[in-house]
Amino acid sequence: MTQPTPAMREAIANAVVGDEQEREDPTVIELEERAAAFLGQDAAVFLPTASMANQIALRILTRPGDEVLAEENSHVFINEQGGPAVFSGLVMRGLPGHRGRIAPEQIRAAMRDWSSGHMPVTRLVSLEDTHNSAGGRVWPLDELDAIVETARELDLRVHLDGARIVNAATALGVPAAEIGRRTDTVTLCFSKGLGCPLGAIVAGSAELMVAARRGKHLFGGAMRQAGIVAAAGIYALDHHVDRIADDHARARRLGDAWAAAGLPVDPEQVETNFVFLDVGPLGLTPAEAMGRLEAAGVRLSPTVHPTILRAVVHLDITDEDVERAAELAPAALGIARVPA
Ligand SMILES: Cc1ncc(COP(=O)(O)O)c(C=O)c1O
Repeated sequence: MTQPTPAMREAIANAVVGDEQEREDPTVIELEERAAAFLGQDAAVFLPTASMANQIALRILTRPGDEVLAEENSHVFINEQGGPAVFSGLVMRGLPGHRGRIAPEQIRAAMRDWSSGHMPVTRLVSLEDTHNSAGGRVWPLDELDAIVETARELDLRVHLDGARIVNAATALGVPAAEIGRRTDTVTLCFSKGLGCPLGAIVAGSAELMVAARRGKHLFGGAMRQAGIVAAAGIYALDHHVDRIADDHARARRLGDAWAAAGLPVDPEQVETNFVFLDVGPLGLTPAEAMGRLEAAGVRLSPTVHPTILRAVVHLDITDEDVERAAELAPAALGIARVPA
């Protein structure tokens, strides 16, 4: 939703570029080095999208016929068109989550018998932080440690879809590397809270990133003068990381205001930049509610949950916008008769 800021556009305009397929684009190389350090990993590969970053990570950590475990509503499972099956021949096994998180005992229970000549080999656990469809929820570090430790014990690999890892790190008050260093591979998306027009990163060990770079070519993601876009990523790492805390504060204010006005919002749910609004109790369908809200000037999006809408706070949303949304949404939705 964000537009590049004037300063980001200037960084883009001034980017020194070259052929990135030949490793001759200094801006892409700089971004990859910066992003690897930012995520606490040895190396990183710049990609057009976080979906591609996830799919490449899954591919390089597995073999066709392997099984990947993930929370059932994770992005890699429900928003990437079955990519793990299509691109990597993986069996996708979704586990029910709590706030987007799965527990070590679920991994243990889901493990296939590796000695079986019949079963797929359980190979990989894919986690998501923050978890999109759970409402931008954050993994506490001790829970993340517990699941990674269990995975290691069971000889499983671990990928982290950290498209919004900066939001997670901000909510926990730790550097992103403190989260990103814990798994074999980690994804970061530049076109969400970081406010870039496009771009993503997959990071991991130097050896894995050799495979990821091959995957980038295979998936058609090897670009040419991609420094034009990488410059925005570098700018965002320099200027848009600390400000994420503002988005979280605004989302909290919005959630609190809507809850106080009587809208079905759980303020406890607001850990990062999303506010979930359940229109079911208002007797409205999501389409009706979105129509009324849009007419009032407040744009929300649907979620995987049949009655829940999502408000996202980002760098183009100001304090005044939050105040207006806080006022306009209850009025727009209040027309509905709330069942007793
Ligand atoms: C958790 C998560 N991972 C990955 C992606 C994919 O990002 P992209 O649109 O860059 O492919 C998204 C996009 O919403 C996401 O929410």
